[in-house]
Amino acid sequence: MLFFESGFPQFGSFNESNNLPLIDDFGRGLLVHMVEIDTLHGEFVDLVNALGRATDETFPELFQELVTHTEGHFDFENKQMRRKRYPQVSTHRAEHDRVLGEMRQINVCVKRGEFEVARTYVAELPAWFRLHVLSMDGALSTFLTQKS
Ligand SMILES: [Fe+2]
Ligand SMILES: [Fe+2]
Repeated sequence: MLFFESGFPQFGSFNESNNLPLIDDFGRGLLVHMVEIDTLHGEFVDLVNALGRATDETFPELFQELVTHTEGHFDFENKQMRRKRYPQVSTHRAEHDRVLGEMRQINVCVKRGEFEVARTYVAELPAWFRLHVLSMDGALSTFLTQKS
């Protein structure tokens, strides 16, 4: 039993303090050059980074804040798309609905005190955010700034 007593190395414990931000390149390549959307995105990045560093005590409140903020963020973009008759509204809106549904579902786990799945989810948000900005929000902002 010596093998088990010595224990396995512990990889990536989420309780370890880690001061590296999950998203550190927001200002380099992820700006869409529309003030309202860049502001919302900057706030989203701050929340994701705060969640990356959160303890189990601060995690639930921050995750709730992320859900509420994302509802407002997506609602703003959805309204702009509808108002300006954006041609790709249905694809973009469907992606917002999918992500929000997923986020709300994860929040149910957080409220039950199950943080592991939520911490994995948060760690994957930067990749989703990059793809969403580059594939959808960038095109939307270009369209909106040309229309205004
Ligand atoms: Fe966005
Ligand atoms: Fe979007």
